[in-house]
Amino acid sequence: MTDTTSTRTERTRVAIVGAGPAGLILSHLLAEAGIDSIVVDSRSREQIESTIRAGILEQNTADLLRRIDPATRVDTVGHRHDGIELWFGGEGHRIDFPSLVGRSVWLYPQHEVLKDLLALRLGAGQDLRFGVTVERVDDDGSGHPLVAGRNADGSPLVIDADFVVGADGSRSVVRPVVTGSSAGGYFREYPFAWFGILCEAPPSSDELIYSNSPEGFALISQRSPEVQRMYYQCDPTADPAAPSDAEVWEALQARVPGTTLNEGPIIQRDVLRFRSFVAHELRRDRVALVGDAAHTVPPTGAKGMNLAIADVVLLAEALRALLVERDERLIDGYADRALARIWKAQHFSWWMTSMLHSTPDASDFDHRRQLGELRSVVESEAGQTYLAEAYTGWPLA
Ligand code: PHB
Repeated sequence: MTDTTSTRTERTRVAIVGAGPAGLILSHLLAEAGIDSIVVDSRSREQIESTIRAGILEQNTADLLRRIDPATRVDTVGHRHDGIELWFGGEGHRIDFPSLVGRSVWLYPQHEVLKDLLALRLGAGQDLRFGVTVERVDDDGSGHPLVAGRNADGSPLVIDADFVVGADGSRSVVRPVVTGSSAGGYFREYPFAWFGILCEAPPSSDELIYSNSPEGFALISQRSPEVQRMYYQCDPTADPAAPSDAEVWEALQARVPGTTLNEGPIIQRDVLRFRSFVAHELRRDRVALVGDAAHTVPPTGAKGMNLAIADVVLLAEALRALLVERDERLIDGYADRALARIWKAQHFSWWMTSMLHSTPDASDFDHRRQLGELRSVVESEAGQTYLAEAYTGWPLA
């Protein structure tokens, strides 16, 4: 453990733990308000830039990236998607976003977003430190929370800040200071997971296909003209190495009946666990949580990164009021404002998940009811509009 009395203490206004999309965008928005920050992350830059995550950006998220980063590649490497296909009963039912809600989404994988944001922040001279292990955060109520840990070379590090932000993901080390325990939150586990692959093949569809089939769920997504991302529902204990390539293709093809997927070599496999989580508290005194440190959503609603960025937009505004104008009202309201959106996103992610997956104990009644639910969405403009509004994203603060 770092001895905070003998180590030289570094000073900043906001200490941000985690250099993911939330932490990096927060450092940018704070810099715009003239507030300096130090960002630390336990991973190396290479690890951050190569972790494969999901990749749908809501319209507002894409607009924010364009505003803060003139060099963003969201429109060159990323692709605009004007709809998704809900697949059931052997056919596709397209939800057209622009005609329903006047918005679109962008398929731009998170690791590409991170390459842009790291270049942006390092180019602007951001104090950004990789390989830093945070051991603890102390907030004694003095208005100067401390972050204590180890630098990449093992030497002790203590940061004295006016505010600490936990943007350090679902296994957050900052969370216990805010909630009183590392688990403290509302949980839901799901009895299934996603078997995900990256494969070298041409796209099988222009848009994402979310399929409910008698065999279970599948999602046909894309990455580039040469590489595709696909998932199918599996048991949470599944071993990603177990099935042969042929078995994986058979499972995928069977879950999108009526379409033929373009197959190719599988270059990566993973099993994604599903859970919904919201921390009991998002802020205590001068420490706040954003992104996966504060909440987790199952990936079916494509909300994860967008929700993290929506938190940060609210928190940046609140920190500007607190640290520049000494106005505490927005920071006092941060949790309630963020939670209003978080619970809508929790509901949407749960709804898409429950409508499209089959649970191990599902009866014939349950399957037929799900098809009724899907028809209620695709055969109703109101139903389609609800889905399009939530998927493309509610307005930011
Ligand atoms: C992905 O492309 O990885 C992806 C897209 C949409 C989702 C989840 C994952 O809902």
